[in-house]
This record gives sequence, C-alpha cells and structure tokens, in this order.
Amino acid sequence: MRRGSIVQLIAIGVVIGACATVVALLIPWLPPDASEERDGIDLVFWFTTAISIAIFSLVGAVIIYSVLKFRARPDDDSDGAPIHGHTGLEIVWTTVPAILVTAISVISGVVLVENDHAASNALNVNVTARQFAWTFSYPKQGNLTSAVLRLPVGRSVVLHLQALDVIHSFWVPEFGQKEDAVPGQNTSLVITPTKIGTYPVICTELCGLGHALMRTSAIVMQPADFEAWARQEQQALKGPPGNAGKAVFTSNGCASCHTLKAAGATGKVGPDLDKLPDYAKQAGKPLADFVKESIVDPNAYVQPGFPKSVMPPFSTLPADQLDALVQFLVQSSQGG
Ligand code: CUA
Repeated sequence: MRRGSIVQLIAIGVVIGACATVVALLIPWLPPDASEERDGIDLVFWFTTAISIAIFSLVGAVIIYSVLKFRARPDDDSDGAPIHGHTGLEIVWTTVPAILVTAISVISGVVLVENDHAASNALNVNVTARQFAWTFSYPKQGNLTSAVLRLPVGRSVVLHLQALDVIHSFWVPEFGQKEDAVPGQNTSLVITPTKIGTYPVICTELCGLGHALMRTSAIVMQPADFEAWARQEQQALKGPPGNAGKAVFTSNGCASCHTLKAAGATGKVGPDLDKLPDYAKQAGKPLADFVKESIVDPNAYVQPGFPKSVMPPFSTLPADQLDALVQFLVQSSQGG
C-alpha cells in the first residue's frame, strides 16, 4: 500500500470519527444524573460509545476510500480479481473484537460489583411488583406502604424486589440502576440518590397488557421531609378506621383502576366501588365478606362485564390494614 493511500484513509477516518464524536457529545442522550451509582453506569456507556466510534470510523473510512478509488468505469463489465482469504487479516479481526468485548465485560462487572455495595446505615425498602402496579413498603417505618417511592437524599437505599405474578423490572433512568423482579426470587438493588426531585419509575420488562402503564414516581426529599412524611403516614394508619382505610386505599394504588367517590378515585379499569352493595347482592354474599374476598382472592367472583384475572390478589396486606380497608370500602360504598 502506498503512503499516500494510508494518509488519505486516516484523514477520512478522522473526519468520520470527529463527526460521530460531535453527535455523541452534543446531543443529551442520557437523562440527568441523580444517583451515585449512575457514574459507573455512565462510564460503561461512554467506554462502549468510544469503542463504537473507533470501529465506525475505521469501517467508514475503508468504505468511502474504496468507493472513491476502486470505482469501475461505466463500460467495465469484467469480474473482479479472484481473492481467497487472508490469514493475517482474519486473525486481526477476530482478536481485536474479542479483546474489546472482554474489556467491556470486565468494566461492566467491576461497576456492577461496586454499585452493589450499600452503606451500613442503608434504608431498606420492600418493592412489590404486580400486574400492573408498584407498591413500596418501609419495614423500619412501621411497615407503612406507598404507591410512590419516597427516598431521602444522600442516603444509601436497598430495594428488595419481589414479584407476585410475572417478571417485572425496576428502573429509574436518572438513577441508572436496573433490576428484575422475579416471582419466587429475592433480588435487590442499591441506590444512593444525590438530587432532590421527582423521577419516573418504569417497568422495563414486557409483563402483559398494562405493561406500558406500570409507572409511578420516585420522589427524592430532604431527610427531614422524609422523616416527617413517614411519621404522618404512620399516624394515618393508626388513626380512626376510616382514615386508616383511606390511607391503605391510596397507598396501594387502588385508585388507578377503581372509582370511589370517598377517595376521589376515578379509575375505570375495574368495577366502580361505589356500587359494591349491588355487586355483593349479585354475588349473593354479605357485603363485608364479599369486599374482603375480592381483595385477597379477586378471581373468586368477577363482576360480569369486567375482564377476569386482571386484579392481582392483595394477600400480602398486613391484617390490620386489610381490616381497615374493608371497613372503609363498606362504609363509603354505603354512603357513610
Ligand atoms: Cu411490569 Cu412491565
């Protein structure tokens, strides 16, 4: 190969690499960084992007150079020269990708292990995934539950993931970390939020018809605000049964599927809970028993006109919260 050709190839490669780098750097591809763990995840992203830009420049340079230099004349219908194999080239294009892929996996492994370290004062949150809702419970905060993930800023958090039906996946883009919730397995995820704000919680595993709707929010707050919220929620759970039941209703995301005037809920996926007395009559069961059964074993009786097997069993609700919820539903549906 002539020296002039090599200079031309390199020049074309540099131009392509520069263009690709500008596109990679100037467009904000990644969401804002809101956790300590995001740094490592971003490092893996940029490492892979740099490798991709280098390979893209090399391939692009060879293609453009070939198109320009080896173009056949319009009247040239002859076959190209017969070429078979090139051992040196084959060794190079096998070895280089093997080294690059190994490097990516080593860096990813190191980052994942690093990101799995939780501080000793970590906040534990149990995350329950079901079709199609997230529930978060705080064992050290009186077992209070919430449909929204609230976290204090600057403190390491361990999320213990659990799935009740099929595989779901927990992801907050701004936190970077992602983990599957698998039925029958205990998986966990460490997150240390660094910025106050509200971020989307997204299910990233296709889990059924409502997959795209399986979203909620993660709210990162000042530690004092978090403590105040936890205290207030605990008090609501301990308060008069009506208030406690309403708190359970709200914190378990019932409102996303059901209508209930007393809770200001307007969901349309499941039966209208203001009509519970009518439904109980149709099912031929006493109202309170009917309501309780419908919460812990929703498929025992499905109101005609509504799809079967859509409501997940809320059988993990603590007994006192279940009783408060039943009482609240019975009273409010009777207009009390
Ligand atoms: Cu749960 Cu997708």
